[in-house]
Amino acid sequence: MSLRLLVVGAGQMGSGIAQSAAQHDFEVFLWDSLSQQTEKALQQIRARLDRAVQKGEMDRSQADAIMDRIDVPHDLGSVPTVDLVVEAIIEQEKEKVSLFEQLGRLFDASTILASNTSSISISRIARPVPHPERVIGMHFMNPVPVMRLVEVVAGTLTSQDTVQKVVKWAEMMEKTPVVVQDYPGFVSNRILMPMINEAIFALQEGVASKEAIDTVMKLGMNHPMGPLTLADFIGLDTCLAIMEVLYEGFADSKYRPAPLLRKMVDAGLLGRKSGRGFYDYE
Ligand code: CAA
Repeated sequence: MSLRLLVVGAGQMGSGIAQSAAQHDFEVFLWDSLSQQTEKALQQIRARLDRAVQKGEMDRSQADAIMDRIDVPHDLGSVPTVDLVVEAIIEQEKEKVSLFEQLGRLFDASTILASNTSSISISRIARPVPHPERVIGMHFMNPVPVMRLVEVVAGTLTSQDTVQKVVKWAEMMEKTPVVVQDYPGFVSNRILMPMINEAIFALQEGVASKEAIDTVMKLGMNHPMGPLTLADFIGLDTCLAIMEVLYEGFADSKYRPAPLLRKMVDAGLLGRKSGRGFYDYE
């Protein structure tokens, strides 16, 4: 029997996770508190699969079968028992904790509850959940269907059994899981975000233009995107939120967010999603 996965949150990450799982034979339930968001996610998945058909990577019947494996429940309470829940809602601790409290009541101890958080403590998210040993981080990278890494974050109380199951399920989605401990920023954002933040300091200080900074990292270090382009891609609000988690979590000034980053977020310049960040997208 196929494994059953519930994805909560149908934004960019949730839609990518649902697609990657359905492409690898999981039976997927995709739920968002905004039904228009779920509709949009299904359209995006359909468009990505259509492109794959056009490129000859799969045939039409395979694409249809993948779509058929994604079910959209009316409400969370109507979802049947699942093996795994992956939460991919807004990156705010209060919202996540309250959702996990609800998930802990809806699903018994046999369901593993994973968060796609990019920096919030898994141990804190697990706190209101009965059987917190089943709570874990499953940090996918954007764009999910393309990126191979899943950072598997073991909270203080996460059991070995939970870690092993999630590692196996990530591999079934053809991802490479890497197990890390629950420290601020885990590994990915502890390293990536200070690099992006430093690029913003360099821009702020007039060391070079934004294009020059991106070119140095693209051509000099073979990164697929320069750090300022990547910051726009991730979202400047997300970058700032992660820097604040590092700054507070380590109480170390080396993680202080660049004032230019804060200034841009204050002005609503959030990168691609708002149409303008370091670059214009309109
Ligand atoms: N969804 C699905 N597929 C996508 C996609 C998307 N949003 N964007 C691009 N792709 C696919 C394309 O269809 C294409 O596939 P094929 O090779 O099969 O044709 C492939 O990706 C390459 O796309 P492009 O040729 O259009 O563009 P590219 O070569 O510049 O690649 C990229 C695009 C994959 C996004 C690449 O620029 C890249 O790897 N950038 C860095 C991404 C990165 O660092 N992500 C991590 C961000 S950090 C994060 O997610 C975690 C966090 O906590 C903040």
